[in-house]
Amino acid sequence: MTISGSEIDQNIETARWSNEATALMNRMYRRQRHIYDATRRYYLLGRDQLIIGMRPAAGATVLEIGSGTGRNLIQAATHYPDARFFGIDVSTEMLTSAIAAITRHGLNGRIRVAHGDATAFDPKAVFGMASFDHVMISYSLSMIPGWQAVLQRAASSLKAGGSLHIVDFGDQRGLPRIARSLLRRWLAMFDVTPRDELETALNRLANAHGAALKFERPFRGYAQVAVLKFPRAAKGR
Ligand SMILES: C[S@@+](CC[C@H](N)C(=O)[O-])C[C@H]1O[C@@H](n2cnc3c(N)ncnc32)[C@H](O)[C@@H]1O
Repeated sequence: MTISGSEIDQNIETARWSNEATALMNRMYRRQRHIYDATRRYYLLGRDQLIIGMRPAAGATVLEIGSGTGRNLIQAATHYPDARFFGIDVSTEMLTSAIAAITRHGLNGRIRVAHGDATAFDPKAVFGMASFDHVMISYSLSMIPGWQAVLQRAASSLKAGGSLHIVDFGDQRGLPRIARSLLRRWLAMFDVTPRDELETALNRLANAHGAALKFERPFRGYAQVAVLKFPRAAKGR
């Protein structure tokens, strides 16, 4: 196989972004990771509902993109003892917490986590598995500048008939204007940008793949929740 000069340049550029993302997220979470689960339970709303709605079949595989401390993977693995779980995260600090928590819960045999940039990872190279029955993305798209590329990666990491499950901050459309503006400013301090174009982007993805989209804005738009079900006979993938 020959690799062209422009492919090499592209690979170098991708590696540079990934290193920068790792450095940035490690700075963000080096200390935060120790209090992450205790504090985020109050404002990362809708994560448990996402897990409950997933209902993986026995033997199914689930990938979380941006798996953080492993909290969702552990909840899901406990809830669905017959499924297998995988997570990638760009922060090695978060991965350290995740590995410790997974070990503490005795779930090493059913959950694997690895370092990877959501915009560029190759699941086959990382886990030896090209596709999964379900992919979940929980409160990560709002932290990833290339979030639209993540959606493409997620779609291409799904088996035919698989589903993509997303929860994240919404546009807060049902909240008073002052609350909305305070919340946006507070989220920006953590490098979080609600993806107001998420529904449009998912509609585009659904049309391209012949998938069915369910999109909701619970908690007065504080969160946005989506499930994209792909057809059994893959179209455009
Ligand atoms: C707010 S946390 C969410 C963690 C977990 N999904 C949850 O619901 O608790 C966002 C996570 O996305 C990860 N992240 C940010 N940019 C990323 C990227 N480019 N690739 C993979 N993970 C990324 C961060 O390191 C962090 O663990």
